[in-house]
Order: sequence, then structure tokens, then C-alpha cells
Amino acid sequence: MSVLLQAVVISVLGWAAWSLIRPLFVKSPLDRVAGPQSPSLLAGNLGQLFDTDAWGFHDEVATRYGPVVKIHAPFGRQWLYVFDPAALQSIVLREQGTYDQIEWLVRHLRELTPVFWEVANRLVSAISRRVKDAPRDIDVLEWMGRTALEIIGQAGMGHSFDPLVEDEATDPYTKAAKDYLPLSFTPEMMLVRQLSPILTRLGPPSFRRWIVDHIPIPRTQKLKRVVDVLYDTSVKIVEEKKDAIAKGDYAAGKDIMSVLLKANMAAEDSERLPDEHIIGQINTLLFAATDTTSHVMAQVLEMLSRDQEMQEKARRELLEAGNGDEILYDRLMSLPILDAICKETLRMFPPTPIVMREAFQDTVLPLSKPMRGTDGSVMESVVVPKGTNVLVGVRACNRNKAIWGEDAEEWKPERWLKPLPKAVEDASIPGVYSNLGFTFSQLEMKVILASLLTNFTFELSNKPIHWNISAITFPSTGKDSLKPEMGLKVGRYSAE
Ligand code: HEM
Repeated sequence: MSVLLQAVVISVLGWAAWSLIRPLFVKSPLDRVAGPQSPSLLAGNLGQLFDTDAWGFHDEVATRYGPVVKIHAPFGRQWLYVFDPAALQSIVLREQGTYDQIEWLVRHLRELTPVFWEVANRLVSAISRRVKDAPRDIDVLEWMGRTALEIIGQAGMGHSFDPLVEDEATDPYTKAAKDYLPLSFTPEMMLVRQLSPILTRLGPPSFRRWIVDHIPIPRTQKLKRVVDVLYDTSVKIVEEKKDAIAKGDYAAGKDIMSVLLKANMAAEDSERLPDEHIIGQINTLLFAATDTTSHVMAQVLEMLSRDQEMQEKARRELLEAGNGDEILYDRLMSLPILDAICKETLRMFPPTPIVMREAFQDTVLPLSKPMRGTDGSVMESVVVPKGTNVLVGVRACNRNKAIWGEDAEEWKPERWLKPLPKAVEDASIPGVYSNLGFTFSQLEMKVILASLLTNFTFELSNKPIHWNISAITFPSTGKDSLKPEMGLKVGRYSAE
């Protein structure tokens, strides 16, 4: 190697090493923010934060330090874990600018409601066949996942993934989607993600693919195969849509993707999204819609198995509203007990306990109340340097006793049937769900729960239920198993 080349390589490596460790030597306005000690220079608190059983650590962060907490990230970087309502307002304000989508989508979802009922009816038939002779242990997580995927497949893109007949889904997408989270949301992968701004600029995609192909870690290779299936499926769906358009079926497509494609085709050339972006949207939509809603539905069924009285109340309300038939959209969406159960479950057990954001410029986080810095000084706000990762503490905010009252940690749907504490109203907690997702998931949860509760009874089985922290929390049978599953004892319900 020539001397010049050696000098260049050494300078680049030196610069990279300095960029990596620089935060260790530079003062930051976040130094004053209190938070847990860092147990490791390499990982900071990330190992504790993203461990699947990190509930205790999350609770400690949520109760011990203040509504804005400093988290140590690799190599001296500092992140913030935030659940102060005023600070949250300022972080997720972006989403509040999207109100214009709601009306259009709600109108459209109304038209799509029969699709939801059709899939729900197939689910009821499938479970009925399995419990027709006697109550049986059923993996409700598996069925909720398959159902959620089929609903977003049908309503979102006019594509069927699963007839909901066999004991196990046969479509490769269903399996790949199930494997994705446990493989991708690990402390090691969170570390790799820190490097993604550099890694994604490393040469052309074919070169990056070559590197991935040669990483000798079985988990990475498995994740690569999973991502390939997800990508290939999206490509297939876009091809199907294009074929349908070519055959003239296109105008009939009511699903969300057809509506978006129609808008895209009508757009000016300069504003039209390329296929590659549409493929990305499909994956986002399928992913965003499946595990979130299905895991909340499983959680609702678990809570109703623990609270038989509430289960019976919900069933009565549904039977009265439906008289054995499908319940009309407006009626279903306004049933108070069902609504309270869904809201309370989402409050106590948000499937995304934290959501990540990054400050793209220096900014200041306002606080609803001043807090104390580590040096004893009073902080009226927190100065956040550009590049800081901010963890939106959804769960911490939803369980904050200062807002919800002393019973904040209890699952009590009744709280929604009377006026909420004034502090909840005053805090004006921003919604962190995308509006599209929230409306869609509410309809889906209510249709599925209406169908299930009027046909079946749910009880705890002998299998323990342990919830694990991940990008989307998931249940397994016990701490040692990371296989997503939830067994409940399901029996037939007949109204007479
Ligand atoms: C209970 C169910 C759901 C919950 C708790 C939930 C929660 C969330 C959260 C927290 C985010 C923000 C993620 C982030 O910024 O990092 C998000 C984004 C999103 N969600 Fe949902 N969601 C749910 C259901 C759905 C459904 C059913 C759909 C689609 C029909 C959907 C579509 C989306 C989309 C498109 C995004 C934006 C993704 C992006 O910007 O990359 N969500 N959701």
C-alpha cells in the first residue's frame, strides 16, 4: 500500500473512531438530566431497555427519575425517555397535522366493513370446528394474527393471505411476518441500527447485499430470508394490482391500496410515486396493521378471561345490539362497554410501549411541570441537541399516576364509562397512533370481538401467559420461551 493510501486509510479510520467516541468527551445539555446509571460502555442501558423481560427497568425509568429521563446509549451517547405530556405534545405534533385523513378514511372504512365481517365469520367457523364437542385450548394469538393479516390483506390491498381453514397458515408471508420481530428487535440489532446511517451508504445495494450474504451469523441469514419473503410478497401484490388494472378490474377495487394507486395514477408525473415506494408502503401497511391489532385483541381476550364478569357484560351488550346479526358500523363503534374494554386495554398494555424519534435539529422540550436536574437545579425545559434519540414513553404516560390517579396500574374498563379525571383532560395527551391505523384497528377489534364473544367463551388455560417487550409486545408461555403464543380455553357459547 502506498504511503499516501496508508495515510488516507489511517485518517478515515481515525475520524470514524473519533466520531464514535466523541460524545464521551464532549459536554452536553443532557448531562443534567437524571436517569439510571450505565452498566456498560458499549451498550449503555440498551441491553436493559430492550430485553424481552425489561418491564421492571421500564417501570423504574417511569417512576424514579422524572417525566424526562436520560438513557445511556452506546459510546457515551445520551437518549431521552419522555412521558411528560407537554414534551410529548411537542414531539408528536407532526402526527397532529394529519387530521384531514380521518374523514376520508372513516367514510371509506364504512364501505369496507362487510370485508371485516366476512373474515370474522370465517374465523368463527374455524374455531367452531375446533371446539364443537368440548372446550379446548386454542392458541388465540395465532388465530388473531392470521385474522389481522387476512383483514389488512383484503381491506388494505384486495389480497387474500389465508382462507383461515387449516390448523396452520400455509402462506409463506404469514410465517415470515411472525418471525420478523423476534429476529429483528434484539439488543444486538439495536446496536447494528445505530450504524445504519453509515451502513446504508456503503456502496450500491448489490454490494450491501453481498456483505449481508457473507455474514456468518445464522440469525442474520434467517432474518435476510424473512425480509426476502416480505419483499417478494409486496412485489407480487403490486404485480397483481397492475394486472387487475390492465384487465379493467381496477375501478372495482375498494381496498385502500387500490384507492391509493388510483390517486397515484391520477397524479402529475412529477408527483407520482415510483413502484419501489409503493412496495415499501405495502410492507409498512401489512406490518403496522398485523401484530399491533392482533396482539391487543389477544390481550383483550386474556383480560376478559381473567374478568369473567366483564366478559359477560360485553357479551350481553353485543347480543342486545346485534340480535344475532352483524351490528351496523355506527352502533358497533358506539357500544360503551366494548369501547371501554378496547380503550382500557390499549391504555394499560400499549403494544408499542416506546416509540422512537430522533431530533433532526437542536430543539427545546417544554415540560408541563419543572423538574430537578442532577445538579439540583430546576429545569423548566430540556435542551435537546440535534441527533438525540428520543423514546416516547407511551406505556409510562398511560400509567402515570399523576395523570390517571392512584388506580393507574389497574385494568378497569369502567373508568371510561364515567368522566375521566380532570388531570387526563388537562394533560391533553397526544395520540401517537397514525390516524389511519387507529380507526382501522378500532373497527377490526370491535368486529372480531363482537363475533368471538357472541359465539365463544374464554377462560385461562393451564398454560402461563408471559408478555415480552419487543417493538410490539408479544405473549409467550413463560419467560423462557420466546415463541409468540397464547393459549386460552375456548368453549362454544349459545345464547339460549
Ligand atoms: C392497536 C393497533 C395499533 C397500534 C397500537 C399502532 C401504533 C402505531 C404507532 C405507535 C405508530 C408510530 C410508529 C413510529 O412512529 O415509530 C404507528 C404507525 C403507523 N401505523 Fe399503526 N398502530 C396500530 C394499528 C395500525 C393499523 C391497523 C394500521 C393500518 C391499517 C396502521 C398503520 C400505521 C401506519 C401506516 C403507520 C406509519 C408507519 C410509518 O410512518 O412508517 N396501524 N402505529
